[in-house]
Amino acid sequence: MSKSICILGLGYIGLPTALLFAKEGNTVLGVDIDQDKIQKLNQEILPFEETGLKKLYENAKHNFTASTSTKPSDVFLIAVPTPITKEKKCDLRYVVAATNSIKNHLKKGDLVILESTVRPRTTIDIVKPILEETGLICGQDFFLAYVPEKAIPGKTLEEMQNNHRLIGGITKSCAQRAKELYTFVKTDMPITSATTCETVKLFENTYRDVNIALANEFKILSKDFKINVHEAIRYANKHPRVNIHSPGPGVGGHCIPIDPYFLIDSTKSKNSLIEKSRSLNNQMPDHAVEFILNKINPNAKIALCGLSYKANVDDDRESPSYQIYEQLTQKGYDIIIIDPYFTNKKHPKIKKQSNTIKNVNTLIIATNHKEFEEFSAKDFEDSPVHTIIDLKSCLKNKQELQNKNITIHTFGDYS
Ligand SMILES: NC(=O)c1ccc[n+]([C@@H]2O[C@H](COP(=O)([O-])OP(=O)(O)OC[C@H]3O[C@@H](n4cnc5c(N)ncnc54)[C@H](O)[C@@H]3O)[C@@H](O)[C@H]2O)c1
Repeated sequence: MSKSICILGLGYIGLPTALLFAKEGNTVLGVDIDQDKIQKLNQEILPFEETGLKKLYENAKHNFTASTSTKPSDVFLIAVPTPITKEKKCDLRYVVAATNSIKNHLKKGDLVILESTVRPRTTIDIVKPILEETGLICGQDFFLAYVPEKAIPGKTLEEMQNNHRLIGGITKSCAQRAKELYTFVKTDMPITSATTCETVKLFENTYRDVNIALANEFKILSKDFKINVHEAIRYANKHPRVNIHSPGPGVGGHCIPIDPYFLIDSTKSKNSLIEKSRSLNNQMPDHAVEFILNKINPNAKIALCGLSYKANVDDDRESPSYQIYEQLTQKGYDIIIIDPYFTNKKHPKIKKQSNTIKNVNTLIIATNHKEFEEFSAKDFEDSPVHTIIDLKSCLKNKQELQNKNITIHTFGDYS
């Protein structure tokens, strides 16, 4: 049965979710405190690009409106940011503000869902008491569940519909109601408690961060053995029960470098493997800069290839490219940035790839965008580029480039 759904937070998670619910026939109100975003949406301008989002919007817009204020609805879904504080703690200010704005409209039978990534026990210890200030009882008068999201930029819509989705209820009936709402999810939706569900979300990204830290540690060790760490990991991963992630110049994005701190913040355990892994991954841009400085000459005219933290998307949140750029600039290098996924509105130093390659002599690949992976000899005709530093070990046509007298230095290759 179609419902009225109010989604608070129209970002990378909230907007696609809102449109998926609208396409299912629900009446969706998208709410955001960002007036500019609401104005754009009301002029049918999407605030960011995502595969398939425009098409989905066209199919769903008759059931979707955007506003800066919350209205009475059958369902309220919170997808607001949960940044990290300077002290590396989970900042719940936006979650608290969004919950308070729901409180004024909450009535018997309503369902409230939290999707933002939070530290364990937030749903039960923070959100539930605020909503119960209305006098309504959770699990009896209204229903509350935690339903985390794990979609990645570039594949958000595909993953929102096809990924396994864990539902965490304050009570079983809360979880059951939430499960019934997600009609666009095509896979399994097991039910657990809200706190287990919050913790599972953090376990997933912490596992990946610790795994990357191990790969980075292997990279550091490989220097002593004079081997190529990427080759070694590729062979190790042929073992049927081994899955080592890739070493690199740092961990970016909105989840992997942040979520482990929400676990660290919530436990009394000190100096944990999780903390050590975070610290090692945080040092990787410094290692990358040290590697670069050993390979370039003081007159190098550099283009940094890639601002995104991830291939083939325009997402630069927590990207190690910024640290590499800053550190090299502080050393006196004048650096141009090329990134086909950004315009120079985002960063004034961004220039067009084809012109830049004719005006620099050194490339530093910091993001494995397909445009960089596929660099070939013909890209460097009439170009003074003589050195490429491949921080992602991603170049596909290495031999062809070397035949053109371009020296390639791969981060992690000490063979
Ligand atoms: N983006 C991802 O890839 C991803 C993946 C999994 C989980 N998450 C989690 O989902 C949550 C949302 O992430 P996002 O990437 O969509 O964030 P975002 O920054 O893209 O969007 C959040 C939106 O919420 C709005 N907002 C803030 N306070 C509000 C309020 N009180 N009422 C209404 N709107 C408000 C902001 O203006 C912003 O537009 C975060 O907790 C994040 O950790 C994100």
